[in-house]
Amino acid sequence: MSTPGRQHIALGAYLTGSATNGDAWRAPGEDIDADIDFGRYRDYVQLLERGRFDSVFFYDNVLPVPDPAAVADTPALPRWDTFTLLAALAVTSRHIGLIGTASTTFNEPYNIARRVASLDRLSGGRAGWNVVTATGGGENFNLAAHTDHAERYARAHEFVDVVTGLWDSIAPGAYLRDRETGRWLDPAKVRPLNHQGRFYQVAGPLNAPPTVQARPVLAQAGASGAGKELAARIGEVIYTAEYDQAAGRDYRAEVLARAARYGRTADHLRILPGLAPFVGRSEAEAREKFETYQRYLDKDECLRGFSSYASLGVDLSAWPEDRPIDLGPIAETNSHKSRQSLIVNWIRRERPFVRDVLRRFTRGGHRIVVGTPRAIVDDIEDWFRTGAADGFNIMFTSSPGGIRDFVDLVVPELQRRDLLRTDYTGRTLRENLGLPDPAAPA
Ligand SMILES: Cc1cc2nc3c(=O)[nH]c(=O)nc-3n(C[C@H](O)[C@H](O)[C@H](O)COP(=O)(O)O)c2cc1C
Repeated sequence: MSTPGRQHIALGAYLTGSATNGDAWRAPGEDIDADIDFGRYRDYVQLLERGRFDSVFFYDNVLPVPDPAAVADTPALPRWDTFTLLAALAVTSRHIGLIGTASTTFNEPYNIARRVASLDRLSGGRAGWNVVTATGGGENFNLAAHTDHAERYARAHEFVDVVTGLWDSIAPGAYLRDRETGRWLDPAKVRPLNHQGRFYQVAGPLNAPPTVQARPVLAQAGASGAGKELAARIGEVIYTAEYDQAAGRDYRAEVLARAARYGRTADHLRILPGLAPFVGRSEAEAREKFETYQRYLDKDECLRGFSSYASLGVDLSAWPEDRPIDLGPIAETNSHKSRQSLIVNWIRRERPFVRDVLRRFTRGGHRIVVGTPRAIVDDIEDWFRTGAADGFNIMFTSSPGGIRDFVDLVVPELQRRDLLRTDYTGRTLRENLGLPDPAAPA
């Protein structure tokens, strides 16, 4: 089948939905009120559309905060409800895809199917759902602890099947709205779901505005064995945190091999590693921006967050600055297995100092690159051409400055090399990503 836009990279923007993006929120010029001023997000998204991004993606979690002192220095709180924010953005933007996160552990499939379908209609076919099993948060949902990893993924598979089943429960053209005949809908085009599974019993059909995309786009990011299996089966946009090209190539090859077992090929998915860029017109300017970021980074907070996110079992903020990091035996986490193994392997191999962690990774464990537009596009192009990535999920290191730098400096270089469209060619997110319609017969 033809895949429009395949010669181009997929370009996603990662935003936190919290007061700020990036780790150095105290740096001058940073917006620190995006949690109370919707206009900030409206402006970011308009900027991203100028940069021809396929999608804006909102991270989300709903973790308990047992010790408020632990979040006193970091804008982890407060965070917008993702789909409410996206609904507002749907009417203040025109082209960009709107991908929100909702967990399969703390939601009901009917509610998510309805919410995402509503966003799809509201945005004219630009909705996507990032399927996560959640890194934690059971304590907020009647659970004493987080659900077991394997159980979470088993539930996730069935959850997604129910959601897609509900989206398919009303065939296109079902709503006749025919004043003449008095027929509102064609009952032959309505298929109740009657799902009876291990975790869910859902009758259907879905009571929601008909979607514009046959199905909204499914994003996924799990990278443990179980996570990759889910990504391979249902993921269309797949986020990863690979930090070197060889690992990126291995990851992509493995997901594609797993996907083949479900009759899916590279045409069906777009794998996007995270990238946190510092861009300058000259190398010196880029370095200066990076050093400013380092100056304003709360290093202890960043190392604490990094250690906890990667489940290192030690708090690197307490690690001596002059000794290479040496990790003892580490118990496998029930939370974020993939990030744990990625980071632990890197530390064991490189024996870095804590300063290396701070210079190489964001708090969330994504790769930092510093350089001119040309150097950054060289990096992007190399990953793309060698099969390590289908594109990137850009994790802005500041807002609005980092977003503007990328759009004004990197995007023109991407376009000059024909790695990025100069205009939106599709109407829907699915079209702009060059993804086939999953509901169409093969
Ligand atoms: C770019 C990126 C974004 C993610 N966003 C979220 C998120 O918003 N919420 C969440 O709970 N997990 C998020 N994750 C984590 C995964 O979705 C997954 O739930 C977690 O990694 C546990 O699965 P695993 O053990 O297979 O990695 C993200 C991961 C990546 C790489």
